[in-house]
Amino acid sequence: QQNGPLAGKSVLVTAGPTHEPLDPVRYLANRSSGKQGYAVAAALADLGASVTLVSGPTTLRAPAGVTYVPCETACQMLACVKAAVPFDAAVCTAAVADWRPEVLAGQKIKKISRDDVPAPIRLVSNPDILAEISTPGSQRPALVVGFAAETEKVEEHATAKRQRKGCDWIVANDVSAGTGIMGGDSNQVVLITAQGSERWPHMLKEEVAQRLASRMADWFTES
Ligand code: C5P
Repeated sequence: QQNGPLAGKSVLVTAGPTHEPLDPVRYLANRSSGKQGYAVAAALADLGASVTLVSGPTTLRAPAGVTYVPCETACQMLACVKAAVPFDAAVCTAAVADWRPEVLAGQKIKKISRDDVPAPIRLVSNPDILAEISTPGSQRPALVVGFAAETEKVEEHATAKRQRKGCDWIVANDVSAGTGIMGGDSNQVVLITAQGSERWPHMLKEEVAQRLASRMADWFTES
């Protein structure tokens, strides 16, 4: 049994991108590295939480002491989350693909001749894992935290997102080109709660994670 302010609390962390296959060798993906989510998982474990890290494909090593559940697609990520509930808290950092190809070709899609016209790729919606976790019900974690990567009007969009998704807090960041945040080592975030918004200084992703984990510990102590 761990010691620390989150001892006895179970926390789900989703992290990384998802890969949405087109055929056995091709997929749609995004530039998420998983660094922020893995740092959150490590920080929560350091405070004594029992952490389950459900992660899409990354090049990172799972932090020591967490239960690591690898997955590939958004649908698999949701299935892994559902298989592991309930949790006291959830932090969804994963950059889940919003859409997936409607058809997964059984064999590699071939270009036979030079003038073959590429077939259009039809997309269908993926489940929204954060919104599903946030749905009121007996299985809902007491505290649900989402992340929001925005490229403009960060606070405004993230505040609307908190309400739309039904989560309790949103950690919002500006990932517009030139910030170097996506894939980088540091982050500049705004924490949005029902009480309002709070801009944190520019800091390492590990420091954002530690500050978030300790805020979560305070929340459990106070509630
Ligand atoms: O809507 P948007 O993708 O910007 O929302 C970001 C938040 O929602 C993140 O916390 C992300 O992990 C979560 N999300 C999710 N499932 C999706 C899309 C987003 O859990 N399909």
